[in-house]
Amino acid sequence: MYLTKEEEKTLNGEKGKVLERMFRLLVRLGDIYGADKMIPVGSVQVAGVSYKSIGDPGTEFLEDLASKGAKVKVLTYLNPAGMDLENWKELGFPKDFAKNQLRIMDAFKKMGIVVTSTCTPYLAGNLPRFREHIAWSESSAVSFSNSVIGARTNREGGPSALAAALCGVTPNYGLHLWENRQPNIQIDVDADLEFNSDFGALGYYVGKQIKNKIPYFSGIKDANTDQLKALGAAMAASGAVALYHVEGLTPEADLVEKKGLETMPVGKKEIKETYEKLSTGKKPDIVIFGCPHASLREISALAEKLEGKKLKKPIWICTSRMVKEAAERMGYDEIITKAGGSIVADTCMVVSPIEKMGYKTTGVNSGKAANYLPGFCKQEVCFANINDLVEGQL
Ligand code: F3S
Repeated sequence: MYLTKEEEKTLNGEKGKVLERMFRLLVRLGDIYGADKMIPVGSVQVAGVSYKSIGDPGTEFLEDLASKGAKVKVLTYLNPAGMDLENWKELGFPKDFAKNQLRIMDAFKKMGIVVTSTCTPYLAGNLPRFREHIAWSESSAVSFSNSVIGARTNREGGPSALAAALCGVTPNYGLHLWENRQPNIQIDVDADLEFNSDFGALGYYVGKQIKNKIPYFSGIKDANTDQLKALGAAMAASGAVALYHVEGLTPEADLVEKKGLETMPVGKKEIKETYEKLSTGKKPDIVIFGCPHASLREISALAEKLEGKKLKKPIWICTSRMVKEAAERMGYDEIITKAGGSIVADTCMVVSPIEKMGYKTTGVNSGKAANYLPGFCKQEVCFANINDLVEGQL
């Protein structure tokens, strides 16, 4: 791989041990995937933030880096942490867990990382532009930035994203290259997609079938950005889809080569069967929205449904701290809290220890959450649309 003089110096340790170690990791990655050079990144999103996922070894690794003076070179955000960083006590998160989670956040902050923990950084002040090279980690954020924004990122692991943040570059391979962004299967959709959960079900079904291919969707008449984020998140979870195109909706759809693609039809039947397949339990003890983290539009829709109601069982809606603050200002938070629900910031149902908080069956409208909750959080799942989920908790 071609390296500039400055990069050679970094690799030779002339810029300190930490940078040498981090840059070496990027060079190794680039060599494995045949990158020709390093490219500057506009922003980074680092995964591996929850104490539940990284434990003591990960925490000590981050504290060590921070104590050696490691500092990020570009705008860097974090994936969800294991708890609401402000309201963890009220929400019942265990104290020991909280102590360790706060150590992790301190280490990231020392490195200059914005300690906003979210899988929707693009809704919270980290918005890349079309064709900008970035190094993001969380699979739904990767999918959204590649597909809906047209930025360019591979799905980075926690360490490679951190290395990109500290060095300001990433190896030029995979989805950074135009030739690798071409679709290799066409999905013909013949179904009315109304709820965000319909998009989650479609994404779950397609991801399962096509694994890591790049789909080109036709037949999706309309979708807002919340629905596209639900679609992409589910496809990335049930398969490993990091980029998709939607005819008439996503920015690269008109530019890519579509001739001669293998086609796969998806209709009402497949979507209905996916709803059934994803529901492993009956009545939920808790309903959690916001996977990926909720937008203000999603929170306002929930507030509208809960206005003047009293919940018998809890509802959470997970989001970023920034969006939560906007929701407070709009009075949505007050309406949801009065009804007995909570807007939970900085974390989500999958990375927080909900299984230790007494919950056994979780209701979700997200194909991604439905995919992970049984394995990660030992939950039975009720997968349904927002209306049915809210109705069931009243
Ligand atoms: Fe985000 Fe957690 Fe879902 S990280 S995409 S809310 S599983």
